Amino acid sequence: MKSFQELANPWVADLAVYEPGRPVEEVARELGLEDVGDIIKLASNENALGPSPLALEAMQDSAKTMHLYPDGGTFYLRQAIASHLGVDPAQVLPGTGSNELIELLGNVFLRNGTNIVMSEQAFMVYRLVASASRAETLAVPMTDFTHDLDAMSRAITPETKMVFVANPNNPTSTMVSQEAIDRFMDAVPDDVIVCFDEAYVELLDEADQPDVLQYVRAGRNVVVLRTFSKAYGLAGLRVGYAVAPAPCIALLNHVRQPFNVTAMGQMAARAALADEAHIAQTRKLVQDGIVQFEAGFRALGLAWVPPVVNFVLVEVGAGREKFMALQKEGIITRPMDGYGLPDHIRITIGTREENERCLAALARVLGKEL
Ligand SMILES: Cc1ncc(COP(=O)(O)O)c(C=O)c1O
Repeated sequence: MKSFQELANPWVADLAVYEPGRPVEEVARELGLEDVGDIIKLASNENALGPSPLALEAMQDSAKTMHLYPDGGTFYLRQAIASHLGVDPAQVLPGTGSNELIELLGNVFLRNGTNIVMSEQAFMVYRLVASASRAETLAVPMTDFTHDLDAMSRAITPETKMVFVANPNNPTSTMVSQEAIDRFMDAVPDDVIVCFDEAYVELLDEADQPDVLQYVRAGRNVVVLRTFSKAYGLAGLRVGYAVAPAPCIALLNHVRQPFNVTAMGQMAARAALADEAHIAQTRKLVQDGIVQFEAGFRALGLAWVPPVVNFVLVEVGAGREKFMALQKEGIITRPMDGYGLPDHIRITIGTREENERCLAALARVLGKEL
């Protein structure tokens, strides 16, 4: 009898598995702690403030109708997103986090013989999705931990189907300017799809947010991804969305599940979208946290990449070891060896108290004084 390994599609059996931020429950079990409250997760760039209170209310209301399937067409959520962004509802597709939309893009546009272009240190899921579709990944070196868009446009080959630009980028917390984007869009051949992943964009002040939706409105082959997991504080509900020209959205609809966004997720996301006060408070928490971490790193004599959003890449030397040592202190961060940065860890900005505990633990782990 053949094993499952032998029966599987060979390119699937060989796929790398995404290493997510570790959940507090798992780490508590490992450390033999009864109380998960002693553990701080600064590993997945979630919102330290929690969900928007308006979204919480919507979730409670929606709980009563959870025996019913959701609206498979996400009518009201698409309307709300479209009017929020000034696009047409036919240009919007919500999904199970933006992760699902990356996967759908892979299913629709990638196959053996095609490739994607991305930065060496960019969101890992692009690469995993490309491999799952048997497409090649052309990874372009970054400059100062920032996308080198000129080099990325030069890396495009006749086989390139998509270029992924996370802006701001994870795990570096850096961003590219509107000017660099516009130059890039002039250089990219029309047949290549550019996917701007804006998972963190709402954490920036409005004046600092680049405008890439203009390219969707102009009918270019551009897909913009956004999520309710970060600024809106709804990572556990799994709601993200794509904005793209209507023919692209129609194709993505061919490969999605019929009820890909939960009813509770749809209602909470609509409420969160309207909660401007929560977004403003979140931005302030992040800005204050950045100042706090930078002061701490300076005191510890560490080099870091100046962050623009709610996470920071810091050079601690032997990152995985430091990640393990911090975990023993009850602080979950993210090792970066999988991104080719073995001396760095990535820390999500938390509340003032969480940041303080994290910096104190880091000082102990490094044997330094704060
Ligand atoms: C750049 C980027 N894109 C997409 C995602 C996926 O987010 P979600 O699937 O929760 O919307 C993340 C999550 O960490 C991210 O950092």
